[in-house]
Amino acid sequence: MKTLCCLLVGILAIYGSFAVDRNNFKTCEQSGFCKRLRAQKPEKSQYSLDPKTVAVQGNTLVANVVTVDRETQPPKVLHKYVLKLSAIKDGTFRVEINEAEPLYPRYVPQLALVSAPVTDKLELVSSDDTKVIAANSQGHRVVITVDPLKIEFLDKSGESAVVLNENNQLFVEPLRKRKEAVEDETGQILEEDEEGTWGETFKSHHDSKPRGNEAISLDVSFPDADQAYGIPEHSDKVNLATTTSGEPYRLYNLDVFEYELDSRMAIYAAIPVMYAHGSKRSVGVFWHNSAETWVDVVNYADSNVVSSLVNLVTGGQKRKVDARFMSESGVLDVFVLMGDKPKDVLRQYTALTGAVPLPPKFSLAYHQSRWNYVDENDVASVDEGFDTHDIPADAIWLDIEYTNGKKYFTWDAEKFQHPAEMVSNLTAKGRKLVVIIDPHIKREAGYFLHEDATEKGYYVKNKDGKDYDGWCWPGSSSYLDFMDPRVREYYASLYRYENFAGTSKDVHIWNDMNEPSVFNGPEVTMLKDNRHYKSPEPGQEGISSFWEHRHIHNEYGLFHISATHKGMLERDDKKYRPFILTRSGFAGAQRYAAIWTGDNSAEWGFLAASVPMCLSLAIAGMSFCGSDVGGFFKYPDSELMTRWYQAGAYQPFFRAHSHIETKRREPWLYDAQTLSLIRDANRRRYALLDFWYTLFFEQTRDGLPVFRPLFVEYGDESEVLTIDNQHLLGDKMLVRPVLEKGVSSVQVYLPGARTRTVWYDVDTYQAYPADGYITVDTPISKIPVYQRGGSIIPRKERVRRSSALMAHDPYTLVVALDANNTATGTLYIDDGETYDYKNNKYIYAKLEYTQERMTYTYIDESATYPTGSWVERIVVAGIKTAPRSAKLLQGDSTTSLLMTLHKGNDVLVIRKPAANMAKPWKITFSY
Ligand SMILES: *[C@@H]1O[C@H](CO)[C@@H](O)[C@H](O)[C@H]1NC(C)=O
Ligand SMILES: *[C@@H]1O[C@H](CO)[C@@H](O)[C@H](O)[C@H]1NC(C)=O
Repeated sequence: MKTLCCLLVGILAIYGSFAVDRNNFKTCEQSGFCKRLRAQKPEKSQYSLDPKTVAVQGNTLVANVVTVDRETQPPKVLHKYVLKLSAIKDGTFRVEINEAEPLYPRYVPQLALVSAPVTDKLELVSSDDTKVIAANSQGHRVVITVDPLKIEFLDKSGESAVVLNENNQLFVEPLRKRKEAVEDETGQILEEDEEGTWGETFKSHHDSKPRGNEAISLDVSFPDADQAYGIPEHSDKVNLATTTSGEPYRLYNLDVFEYELDSRMAIYAAIPVMYAHGSKRSVGVFWHNSAETWVDVVNYADSNVVSSLVNLVTGGQKRKVDARFMSESGVLDVFVLMGDKPKDVLRQYTALTGAVPLPPKFSLAYHQSRWNYVDENDVASVDEGFDTHDIPADAIWLDIEYTNGKKYFTWDAEKFQHPAEMVSNLTAKGRKLVVIIDPHIKREAGYFLHEDATEKGYYVKNKDGKDYDGWCWPGSSSYLDFMDPRVREYYASLYRYENFAGTSKDVHIWNDMNEPSVFNGPEVTMLKDNRHYKSPEPGQEGISSFWEHRHIHNEYGLFHISATHKGMLERDDKKYRPFILTRSGFAGAQRYAAIWTGDNSAEWGFLAASVPMCLSLAIAGMSFCGSDVGGFFKYPDSELMTRWYQAGAYQPFFRAHSHIETKRREPWLYDAQTLSLIRDANRRRYALLDFWYTLFFEQTRDGLPVFRPLFVEYGDESEVLTIDNQHLLGDKMLVRPVLEKGVSSVQVYLPGARTRTVWYDVDTYQAYPADGYITVDTPISKIPVYQRGGSIIPRKERVRRSSALMAHDPYTLVVALDANNTATGTLYIDDGETYDYKNNKYIYAKLEYTQERMTYTYIDESATYPTGSWVERIVVAGIKTAPRSAKLLQGDSTTSLLMTLHKGNDVLVIRKPAANMAKPWKITFSY
């Protein structure tokens, strides 16, 4: 026995050292409210609406809702609520349910919405004792069943699209005063609050819950849905799984050391938006709540659900997804996005929470990071290494070791003696520096930031009102309370060049550990009964004068990055665009920062997970996403490293990063073949930078993710609904990175057969008419990437050291013809770093190709930019009849052009048209 026991322990210890320590993190069962809510049987809802109280105020319908005890006669009213239903512009509704007279104010997130939602006309269609019907101006109707309360949203054809409280899981737990335990004469307790109401313990951590329980819950049904998506960040597939026989999806920003794959455990970011898609429509819900949240999902098409839950009356397979949101606190506030196409629903979410702003162009290029480049010489030699090996790179990153003893806004005086000179050495090659700034502050006497924060009361407080003291990189640390506008103002000022020595417009910021991570806190984060700033309101004292960390947890990092963003804008009078990378995330974080998938590992599974993880974040607004190329922990072998660069080159945020204890792995430390393949992957990225930049610009206007799951464009093909090892860039490029070890071929699904779509392999211009799966050979040099027929993609093919040096380089325009021999594309050009584009200093142009002509015209006619770029080459793939001659017309001049035919005479190359991109032009063809 002894041997067996110890052998097992030994094996566990070995595996344990490579995997998440699950014991550190709660299951639903260990989270008081999740356990309580999940155990509530879906019985008849107690909630009913009083139709006599229905009133329309502006574009909001308001009515009283009550819970009643139906056992008593007449039924006794238990609690009063107010329901508000508002119509929001462009096909969205908002439903809010709060207590009519809460004992204390309940928290509503402050930064998630980009602005107060613009309302649409809401009309009360009818109201009687059983039903209230309202409509917006788009033709959507809302049918409210009075008792029990049920809210059904009908699409434009009158069919049920989203239903709230169909399963009677609506619950808004009233705030309460502590009950005195009532005992009878024998000491038996007759009446008492349920266990855990006033406190609960996880491991050694006690949460005092000073307001008692205050949970909320709501079920949302999506009739006709085949799949649901969203609610990142999790390490599992892009389509959501049925959770009935396991843990719900958890949304709680957490620093999970060595997080595991295929898991619904909470990790760094928590974005409570869910989409449901079926052949009839796409819809969504945005659960506007920043407290710890768990989400159960039931997809009736999942085989395990069919056997146990399927409705026997209808029989067979039912197309429907049910979800249930459960949050620890707050107001019930849910936005219903009516779609009805995938792009509509994604746009509706972006309209609420904002789009990714136009990033500085360098940030779309390649980033080289490591924990840590140890000193100035190391930075210089890595920088030099990229030149020596002819690999383009745009930024070198410094992790925590650059600071003086983990004191942010300082430098290690030995290792980084000349930060300003180090930065100007980088910028001389068009490169940038990105440095880490974390939210924890070292509690050290003499550290100006600690002294300021202590003196001014800027730290988050513990439950006793004292400065909270936790453990993080510097050891004993306190955490700035970014909810306080004075703290944000102060923090922003720290980024001023005069306050952060050595920085300039070419130094950008990485905000890590902002879940926040607290090494000795419960679940490696802050205690829920810690206290945050609350804007003072008359008459609110004691418990009402602060928010608990429980209320705002998922929004903490958002407050942090918003302060950094403000600081970076103000440091040069709002002239330059900031770049910030964040690890935590919440709805709206896309307005301030890019995100990466955190501390992954050099394993094939993590490479594969980078695609679905970033796809889920992208549809939740955070399109600017990537994973640590090569993996953070452990060491990638040549094959894994190569495949990771090849995948990363086609993901929005492209950065290599590694753990301090891993072997160094700059590209030239690998064998010659690997170095050459990494070089090739980076060059591919740089060749397409203007394409990426144009996609990001367009995303600021149309609100659609740059990095797209296939269902966004091809949602009527059922095969694509679960594909998450492929992705699209905009609607023009399809990528199927090789994510598997040792494979000599992969299957690639080419969508769009119904619309006669043709896909062109970007390496060979070989045309593949869309017809489902094809098999593609994948020697180590091959990245399966396809350009859609009907598109034009700009490329810059001269090799430079950084993107800045490519600004005026010439373009190669790749025209991929569709079945009608036409193609269109767009191009955005500006200075790549300032806000001058807001004053019309840019070019946003359209490229159009037909049999007769190719044109370059400005979409925004009042905008111009003095680019020196010109057209070096036009490649037309899929030519059926080659033109005999071509003429360029620009301004007053006409030039005859040289053309050659390649391949099986189906690739036409127009050589040196030399058209200037600062003015419109036209090429005419004759046959
Ligand atoms: C900057 O570059 C110069 C010239 O190569 C070099 O002498 C100097 O040491 C560099 N400075 C730093 C801080 O890297
Ligand atoms: C070709 O043109 C026709 C007529 O304009 C259009 O309906 C069809 O969708 C086009 N086909 C492709 C593949 O673009």
